[in-house]
Amino acid sequence: MRAAFFQTSPIFGKSEANVEKVLAKIHSIDAHLIVLPEFFNTGYQFKSKSEVFQLVEEVPKGWATQRLIEAAKKKRLFIVAGLAERYCSRFYNSSILVGPKGFIGIYRKMHLFWNEKRFFTIGNTPFKVYNIGTARIGMMICFDWLFPEAVRVLALKGADIICHPSNLVLPHCPQAMITRCLENRVFAITANRIGIEKRIKGQKLKFIDQSEIVAPNGRILCRASDNKEKIGIAEIDPRTAQNKSITPLNNIFKDRMKKFYKPLI
Ligand code: ACM
Repeated sequence: MRAAFFQTSPIFGKSEANVEKVLAKIHSIDAHLIVLPEFFNTGYQFKSKSEVFQLVEEVPKGWATQRLIEAAKKKRLFIVAGLAERYCSRFYNSSILVGPKGFIGIYRKMHLFWNEKRFFTIGNTPFKVYNIGTARIGMMICFDWLFPEAVRVLALKGADIICHPSNLVLPHCPQAMITRCLENRVFAITANRIGIEKRIKGQKLKFIDQSEIVAPNGRILCRASDNKEKIGIAEIDPRTAQNKSITPLNNIFKDRMKKFYKPLI
């Protein structure tokens, strides 16, 4: 299958323009699965809860979600995208999965980063694996990378590909994802954004580029490197992620010494 990331440069608050720009490009991509960044429609640096309120949408009936669904149906592909979600009176930093038959599922970010904690509620959707025919995929969002449990749980539940919408500002994630893939023998697609947001005095955020697709053996199949908008595509065989053996005598899941880990959890 052909798996892709789209590294974008959203303008804060310009949801309609940001979405239309992404959709215009999606129509020219030849892929089965494409991952977009975290908050792909709104931009990242919210200043207040009322600002979040202006930009959130309900899923799946919200406008951006519906536009993605239309595109997925027309192109017959699967799209994972991060957006700000409203559910009742709560706001979540969420990632949605849509496909040729419409809305499929949602993940609400569990490990909130910095000011996200002021505006968003901790996610309540357990890590879940979705079978999209060509692969079994799981979702996590940006800062979840620093918690190895996120990829581990998805891998143990059978995910072949970790879809990872991001707005990375810390430098280490692209390298760390190599380890996450190695230690779980999964593919990962990290879709980051580029640009700078300095909407809050003294809190300049520079997004670090380096979206990537990493293989279960830790190989980087595709990585953005020039701080530009970029579509990265790799031809992958998701079945390779089902083989957890690294020598005839080592299966990384069967070798786990669960009884010794237990008291730590
Ligand atoms: C982040 O989690 N957006 C850094």
